[in-house]
Amino acid sequence: MPIGIIGSGAIGQALAGRFVAAGEEVVISNSRGPRSLWGLASSLGTGLKPGTVGEAASEEVVVLAVPWRRLHEAVSAAGAPDWQERIVIDTTNPLGSPDTEVADLGGRTSSEVVSDLVPGARLVKAFNTLTPAVLGADPRTPAGRRVIFLSGNHASANERVARLAARVGWAPIDLGSLAGGGRLQQLPGGCLPMLPLLMEP
Ligand SMILES: NC(=O)c1ccc[n+]([C@@H]2O[C@H](COP(=O)([O-])OP(=O)(O)OC[C@H]3O[C@@H](n4cnc5c(N)ncnc54)[C@H](OP(=O)(O)O)[C@@H]3O)[C@@H](O)[C@H]2O)c1
Repeated sequence: MPIGIIGSGAIGQALAGRFVAAGEEVVISNSRGPRSLWGLASSLGTGLKPGTVGEAASEEVVVLAVPWRRLHEAVSAAGAPDWQERIVIDTTNPLGSPDTEVADLGGRTSSEVVSDLVPGARLVKAFNTLTPAVLGADPRTPAGRRVIFLSGNHASANERVARLAARVGWAPIDLGSLAGGGRLQQLPGGCLPMLPLLMEP
């Protein structure tokens, strides 16, 4: 099953590149439509297909990689699919406009807030703590595998995303719930963003 990605910017492209390099199929989308993604598709090869937001959102695993302030709009553009049981990977950080402004989360973690936008989905917070350059690079380095963190309230979804990450070459660490692990991952405020950890193979 292809992985759907909503957002084709720095993070969307970095993840798409790694997924395709690992043999996964990807449907990637943005606000401007599939034609704007033909160049990216030709550079990444046949594993990557440009699609609409609705097409990306209809995949079983959907990555959200849009700016915080555009999340509502992007999820609406998905056309209210049935999110039930679908896995949504939330890469977003709660920065408003300008990007230094922190969104008011009412005391919750950002991914708990994002969960409300995709009712029924099993949301996993992941890939939000590293820069696009680091995420887009080969996670298997001579010194070890690049550590990525994930958290979510559904153990089965956390395991599924961890397996996907491991196939790509990352060393996933499951931190547990969104309220607990998600807070450690949160940017700003958490202690894990930007930690360039490697795990021995
Ligand atoms: N950059 C980082 O260092 C970093 C690191 C970790 C996590 N993050 C988080 O990752 C998320 C994405 O960041 P980024 O750096 O990749 O941003 P970016 O380079 O600005 O890319 C944003 C992407 O979102 C798309 N988008 C915006 N509104 C949309 C909509 N309504 N429907 C569909 N697509 C839409 C844009 O498409 P169009 O161009 O067509 O509008 C663009 O492809 C953010 O939440 C950020 O906080 C960023």
